Amino acid sequence: MPYKPNDHYARKAKNENFVARSIYKLEEIDQRYRVINSNDYVLDLGASPGSWMQYASKKVGEKGKVLGIDLKPISLNLPNAICVQGDMNELNLDELFSKYKIEKPFDVVISDMAPNTTGNKFVDQCRSYDLCVIALSSAKKFLKSNGNFVCKIFEGEDAMSFRDELKSLFNEVNILRPKSVQSSSKEMFMIAKGKKTGIGG
Ligand SMILES: C[S@@+](CC[C@H](N)C(=O)[O-])C[C@H]1O[C@@H](n2cnc3c(N)ncnc32)[C@H](O)[C@@H]1O
Repeated sequence: MPYKPNDHYARKAKNENFVARSIYKLEEIDQRYRVINSNDYVLDLGASPGSWMQYASKKVGEKGKVLGIDLKPISLNLPNAICVQGDMNELNLDELFSKYKIEKPFDVVISDMAPNTTGNKFVDQCRSYDLCVIALSSAKKFLKSNGNFVCKIFEGEDAMSFRDELKSLFNEVNILRPKSVQSSSKEMFMIAKGKKTGIGG
């Protein structure tokens, strides 16, 4: 079934002043698994145009912080959020955190990063997996013990080995395909809760 640009969730997002329909994926994940809490520091990878940042910013409140990173610009003005344009393949996060005086570790790392799809299922899955590996390496390094990690991945064999790796690093791992994911999409989300102690980058 083809991608529908103006479906129910796209219209709802517009009416509710969210910059993308993706908000409803994170909302469902958070309602079911409670990944983001008040006062949390959240690292949001693949954040543009910014609907996850809008959601997280509200959820963490004024004492929390959200750092969003994307290849593309993020044009949001949120009091407790910082937007950075950059490629997660190249960015030195240690330098970035000191530049913006960001305290770490983070309580939550969320990644909605997605490759430009080619239509070749195998290529797209591999590229999605590569982005997940980058996101997980940031979580290993910058997520605090007992912190939570959410990561988009395209369906396929790699997804199951990624889930197994998450199981070795977190106390609980769930997979969800939120209702708002379009039927044409291969995406699903890994929700890993409670990072085990002693895991570093
Ligand atoms: C589905 S969109 C994210 C939507 C976002 N969560 C929201 O709620 O508005 C996926 C994003 O991943 C970003 N992305 C893909 N590869 C990336 C990389 N290497 N570094 C940073 N961002 C990347 C893309 O630029 C794209 O904006």
